[in-house]
Amino acid sequence: DREAAVAQVQGLIRDIPDFPKPGIVFKDITPLLGDAEGFHLAVDLLADSIEGPTPEYIVGTESRGFIFGAALAYQLGAGFIPVRKPGKLPSEVHACEYQLEYGTDALEVHRDALHQGARTLIVDDLLATGGTARATGDLLRRLGAEMLGYSFVIELTFLAAREHMTDAPVHSLVQY
Ligand code: PRP
Ligand code: ADE
Repeated sequence: DREAAVAQVQGLIRDIPDFPKPGIVFKDITPLLGDAEGFHLAVDLLADSIEGPTPEYIVGTESRGFIFGAALAYQLGAGFIPVRKPGKLPSEVHACEYQLEYGTDALEVHRDALHQGARTLIVDDLLATGGTARATGDLLRRLGAEMLGYSFVIELTFLAAREHMTDAPVHSLVQY
């Protein structure tokens, strides 16, 4: 059943204390990715959690969002749109700056990535402060996408990011 599948996925996520800096507990998904059954289950669970219309596009954020996003797009028969760190995409882009713990970073998407009103779902491995997800949402709105929602494998609920993500439904498989 679903609960057992989620527990299996959760059992393959490893805590690495004090990475990349003191006080951060890093959620390491590499054991999950390396486990054939676990990875398959995680993608199936993401697909099963989609309510309403099937997305035409999955948007994945560099770099861990590419892993789950591309697998989900393949599974659903949807296109995949990469949102990338600055300077990586070769054609014309929209860019969105967002706050990190110290300073700012930016994300970019191709201006011609999708057509107006395209049904689009944002996927990433993990929701922490939500800065990355909100920046990705901003980019999609500028492209004129219809935002179906945000899907994450992992949500750090103690950071309460979803309280600031009121533009579309937020879904996660595993919560801490
Ligand atoms: C991680 C993760 C999310 C983001 C979540 O990516 O994959 O994209 O952080 O954090 P936030 O909710 O506070 O924005 P990271 O920027 O470490 O890049 P990576 O995927 O290339 O490792
Ligand atoms: N991205 C932001 N916070 C993270 C965490 N605690 N573990 C893994 N990836 C992250």
